[in-house]
Amino acid sequence: MADELGTLVTDLLDPGVVEDAALVERLVEIVNHAYAVGEAGMWVAGTKRVGVEELRGLIRASEIVAARVDDRVVGCVRVHRLDEAVWGFGMLAADSSVHGTGVGRALVAAAEEHARSAGAAEMQLELLVPGDRVQESKVRLADWYSRAGYRAVDSRDFAEDFPDLATSLAVACDYQIWRKPLSRGD
Ligand SMILES: CC(C)(COP(=O)(O)OP(=O)(O)OC[C@H]1O[C@@H](n2cnc3c(N)ncnc32)[C@H](O)[C@@H]1OP(=O)(O)O)[C@@H](O)C(=O)NCCC(=O)NCCS
Repeated sequence: MADELGTLVTDLLDPGVVEDAALVERLVEIVNHAYAVGEAGMWVAGTKRVGVEELRGLIRASEIVAARVDDRVVGCVRVHRLDEAVWGFGMLAADSSVHGTGVGRALVAAAEEHARSAGAAEMQLELLVPGDRVQESKVRLADWYSRAGYRAVDSRDFAEDFPDLATSLAVACDYQIWRKPLSRGD
């Protein structure tokens, strides 16, 4: 499928890339648009997933992997160390023009590979879900993460753990913690 679009590659962004304002703004746009769709109705209107300065900080910290098709940036994921054994990924987003073409899968694989090569034994992700209804996009993600080897290990009240961010929620949400062992042979 991705072949129809061109050559899909992923790379951990070099900290120097923060100077590329167009690239940073494009990534911010992709993330905010993807989350506005995927988490529609869950946040107060106008809430953004990430701002330019926050993303620049994550790039500086070498935590952002970008996906490109030919030279076009089409998505990204944040990957970061949680403790000695566990790494996490988040802010996974693909441009709507490439949904369903393997960009998400390639980004998760790149995040896992990066964590594994840094010595991680497990990968974690967090899935925010509304407490009052079924959000189709989240059901699809849960199915996908299950197929990819992740298992839900905990579910917590978002407002209890992140009271400041929760003031922007439109509905009460739980966040599920999912984990996957990163075996050496994966
Ligand atoms: C999550 C996201 C990055 C996936 O991007 P993508 O490029 O569509 O991902 P892929 O094409 O690699 O597909 C991922 C999986 O979803 C499946 N999928 C894709 N489109 C689908 C659709 N319309 N219906 C059902 N399944 C679908 C694919 O088959 C694939 O599963 P597989 O690996 O078992 O074959 C993208 O949907 C997105 O940006 N979502 C909004 C932000 C978000 O919710 N982020 C994650 C928060 S935890």
